[in-house]
Order: sequence, then C-alpha cells, then structure tokens
Amino acid sequence: MAINYKELGLANSKELFAKAVAGGYAIPAYNFNNLEQLQSILMACVETKSPVILQVSSGARKYANATLLRNMAKGAVEFVKELGCEIPIVLHLDHGDSFELCKECIDAGFSSVMIDGSHHSYEENVALTKKVVEYAHAHGVSVEGELGVLAGVEDDVVAEHSTYTRPEEVEDFVKRTGVDSLAISIGTSHGAHKFTPAQCTVDADGKLVPPMLRFDILEEIEKRIPGFPIVLHGASSVPQEHVDTINKYGGSVKSAVGIPEEWLRKAAKSAVCKINIDSDGRLAMTAAIRKVMAENPGEFDPRKYLGPARDVLKELYKHKNINVLGSAGKA
Ligand code: G3H
Ligand code: 13P
Ligand code: ZN
Repeated sequence: MAINYKELGLANSKELFAKAVAGGYAIPAYNFNNLEQLQSILMACVETKSPVILQVSSGARKYANATLLRNMAKGAVEFVKELGCEIPIVLHLDHGDSFELCKECIDAGFSSVMIDGSHHSYEENVALTKKVVEYAHAHGVSVEGELGVLAGVEDDVVAEHSTYTRPEEVEDFVKRTGVDSLAISIGTSHGAHKFTPAQCTVDADGKLVPPMLRFDILEEIEKRIPGFPIVLHGASSVPQEHVDTINKYGGSVKSAVGIPEEWLRKAAKSAVCKINIDSDGRLAMTAAIRKVMAENPGEFDPRKYLGPARDVLKELYKHKNINVLGSAGKA
C-alpha cells in the first residue's frame, strides 16, 4: 500500500528552496546508507538548526534495504523532535534512473525524487522527466531534473567537447517538464578524484587548485530562469586532513582533489539552493575508523570505531552547514 510522505512527517523541498534562493544559502543534501551516517547528519543539522535533505541512492537502497531506509527516515522525524528542534527533513531519491524507480520511491513515502535523464538525448530526457513530474506532482512530491553530464575523472572537463549544461536549453526544459529544481554541470564531478593533478595548478602553499568552476554558465542559466532552484552535485571538497589520516593509517587514497569550499560558498549565495555531498563523509568516516583500528588493534566492538567515526562526521556536517552552505540557523 502506498504511503504519502506527509504521513511520515517529512517535508517537501519546494518551500525550502524558495527560502534558500531568496536567502542566499543552500540546503545540505547528504547521502546516507547506515545508522551512524544518519545519526551524525541529524545531530549536526539539529545543532546548527539547519533544514536537511536526506539522500538515498539506488546503491543505498540495495545496500541497506528500501523498507529499512524509509523507516529510518520516519524515525529521523521523531528523533529530531526528541532532540528538541523540529528541523524540516526531506527524503530524496538521488539519481533516479527510471520512471519505475521514482514511482516506487514516491509510493514508499519519499518527498522528493531526482530523475537523472542527463545520459539520454535531450528529447528523451524531456519525455522521461515530464512523465515523472506528472506522477510526482499528483502526490505532492517535488522533482529534480538534470541537464548536462557531470564529468568523471577520466573526462577532461576543460575540453572543447565538454558536457557542461547548455544555458540555451534550460528554459525550454523547465517549461516542458515542469520540474521543481534543476541539477546542472559546471565543472563538479562525483567522487574523491574530481581532477587529475595535471589538470590543477599549484598554489603558494603547494596545494593543488583545480580548474575554476564555470560560474559564467551558472550566471547565464540564472539570467534565463531567474530565481529557479539550481542543484549542484559532486560538491565534496575532499578535505586533505581526512585523506592524510587515511594514508597515515594504512590506506591508499592518492591524488584526491575536490571543490574548494570558497567556491561552494559562492555558489550557495546564488540560485544554487541544494548542494550534494557524499564523498567527504565517506572520507571522514574511513579516516576515523582507520585511526581507531590502527591505534587499538585489539578492539572488536563496532561501537568503539563507529562511534568516533560518527563524531568526526557530525563535525564535518556542522562545518559544512555553518561555513560552506550557510544553512545554519535557517530551519
Ligand atoms: O552521486 C552518487 C552518490 O555519491 C551516491 O553514491 O551510488 O555509491 O551510493 P552510490
Ligand atoms: P560527491 O561525490 O562530490 O560527494 O557528490 C555527491 C553527489 O553528487 C550525490 O548525488
Ligand atoms: Zn550526484
């Protein structure tokens, strides 16, 4: 039997986005796959009084089980009440790739879905996105579409044949599909290896600086669809301290480069009102677990390494809300 997100106490992202665009900040969209990630996201957002989008990828659904994840989101609503701060919580499908998956999530109580038709032709993307929007809107659920393909590390994002969003398409796409928000491609990409060192310059402190995001494309998009909610995927900054900790305690994460936080702060002040972060959490968690494991080789109680990892994650998310996205105090 289908469940509407309102029955779970979840929020729709539409109003949150309108406020974020007007207020010059972005709502955090953090991915979760397990209890500790969820706890740290919620505790960080309650402590910073930030609205939050809990993102579930299809990989997360396979890993953690869709029913459990949905009930965790329901539990999240009750948990934040217990913590004494009722922040708005959106449950969002990240990178939905079919109408069927989006429908399944809408029927399971998600309040927002992404239909990522960016790998299809423009017309196929329009048709698929429109179909999802029609079903979602009939259930009060908001939809994120995507135009432009995020580069992988193997792609040269500064090449002529880039897959940046084409500003001349956005107005038509938004009008014909009826989407509530639009993910764009301006030089970010998924994962911890967003750029090769060869693509970067080196600053005075020896730090690798990636090619500048295409803020000119973002500005052009904003001119064509003023005030329309824009989403930035692939927005992890790949904190060097966590990469160093991983490598110090037996790991091997080499040449990892992310998006400088100042650039994300700048994006958050524009129509970018949702910023997706997953990899930074993965790095922080792995670093903390490796450290405890290396320093306490006799430890075999998962709470003894997952607990410290949860603390490190919470600090990471608080930092993002306060210093990067500007969402602190906006719940
Ligand atoms: O954009 C992708 C997210 O980081 C989710 O990753 O598909 O490995 O769960 P995943
Ligand atoms: P990162 O890999 O940069 O964290 O991006 C996550 C994301 O875009 C999820 O949709
Ligand atoms: Zn993404």
